[in-house]
Amino acid sequence: MSIDAVLAEINDFLGCETPDSWVAEALKQPEILLIDHANCEKKAATTAMNLLYKHIERDDLLKKMSQLAREELLHFEQVVNIMKERGIRYRHLSSSRYASGLRDAVRKGDATAELVDVLIVGAFIEARSCERFAKLAPFLDDKLEKFYRSLLRSEGRHYQDYLGLAAQYAGQPIDDRVALFRELEQQLIESEDDEFRFHSGVPAQAS
Ligand SMILES: [Fe+2]
Ligand SMILES: [Fe+2]
Repeated sequence: MSIDAVLAEINDFLGCETPDSWVAEALKQPEILLIDHANCEKKAATTAMNLLYKHIERDDLLKKMSQLAREELLHFEQVVNIMKERGIRYRHLSSSRYASGLRDAVRKGDATAELVDVLIVGAFIEARSCERFAKLAPFLDDKLEKFYRSLLRSEGRHYQDYLGLAAQYAGQPIDDRVALFRELEQQLIESEDDEFRFHSGVPAQAS
């Protein structure tokens, strides 16, 4: 699948495009963007590791999530290196509302239902990351543009892996769950957000 085809599929999967106001804010806050990007890569590896611990009987999940965790940690190293080159100090940042907002809707109590929802949430986070890298790339300096374009490919594959595993383990169509998370994700992206982060919503107007 070409990268354009993956991006077209992702734009179709997501309920909305990233608002231009978010892109403008990202260009104003390059340090926060990179620090939070590093955090996102680290958290993506953690999510995959948690699934590895929890679902040892699911062979395909073990294979895909172990590959994914390695790739996310490699991305993490790459972001940290770029921060270092640019003299950006790695400091603690609060998490955005985005991932926790999505996880709040995960069904609890039934192990399969919970797993399917967690995988669908993973697919949305990867898809949105991929869409944002593509949106930002044309506005970045050469090095960062090249790096973000290289990430598109892997995050696009991660989106496909998460969605594929969700469909595989659900044992029934997942369309209604995908639709529910699509709507929720769109709300988180299109509503006002006080804090700028990699996955934040529309920047709140500075008063
Ligand atoms: Fe990544
Ligand atoms: Fe990823």
